[in-house]
Amino acid sequence: MNRVRKAIIPAAGLGTRFLPATKAMPKEMLPIVDKPTIQYIVEEAIESGIEDIIIVTGKGKRAIEDHFDHAFELEQTLLEKEKFALLEKVQASSNLVDIHYIRQKEPRGLGHAVWCARNFVGNEPFAVLLGDDIVQAETPCLRQLINEYEKTLSSVIGVMKVDDAETHRYGVIDPLAQDERRYQVRQFVEKPKPGTSPSNLAIIGRYILTPEIFMFLDRQEIGAGGEIQLTDAIQKLNEIQRVFAYEFEGKRYDVGEKLGFIETTIEFALKNEEIKDGLLEYMAEKLKEYRL
Ligand code: G1P
Repeated sequence: MNRVRKAIIPAAGLGTRFLPATKAMPKEMLPIVDKPTIQYIVEEAIESGIEDIIIVTGKGKRAIEDHFDHAFELEQTLLEKEKFALLEKVQASSNLVDIHYIRQKEPRGLGHAVWCARNFVGNEPFAVLLGDDIVQAETPCLRQLINEYEKTLSSVIGVMKVDDAETHRYGVIDPLAQDERRYQVRQFVEKPKPGTSPSNLAIIGRYILTPEIFMFLDRQEIGAGGEIQLTDAIQKLNEIQRVFAYEFEGKRYDVGEKLGFIETTIEFALKNEEIKDGLLEYMAEKLKEYRL
């Protein structure tokens, strides 16, 4: 059996929703408490059994490469000052796995970003993780999808129910039949117009794909928003082999937009013993101030 060993993390987006913070800093480096969002994604991949990661970067993304590299000067300073706990944190991000990088030279969409990594993937099934979604679950979200892949030997796309009013922001599925959390899919639709969505099951940033997807990405067809869409290629793949959707277990945090980012920060801060009590006190004061 072909195991899922490789993962692609597209990180070439311009991060316009977070300007001006992202003018000179990649959005993937914005921290949730004290860890850049992309590190949560890399950790999920590793905890799911991924051995090799390729990050698709673009202009101005050097900080990502530096983050996962050794930082000799900083490590030396921390060692001299006997700040061992901090040293461990710094080293943890560089000792993660083998991470490779490739550049997407022009922002032509998610489908194109994945296509840029085709030579890294070769002829095996692979994972894609998007950095705008952090998922906390007992079994890592990607691992849940890999388990489904191992049962079905088919592509598996992570989905989650969203509010009807939100479906136009996502790729969504038109489900055909359901077996517990797994769906057969009639159609995958990228960003349906409001009121036209076939369901409220939205694609959330986690995919297991068979390499045949590249037959369709190779065509570089333009889809919604004038971009080469991964969802369109998945629909084409679905026409020649089964592609399942899987409603994963766990809580998803949308760190790709401002309010979601702040909410995630607060939730993660509340899980951090060092700052939890101080934050709760502060929030209680704020609630009084706003008379909530
Ligand atoms: C991308 C995908 C979309 C998916 C979404 C999840 O859209 O194209 O199918 O639902 O990620 O976050 P984007 O958010 O990049 O516009």
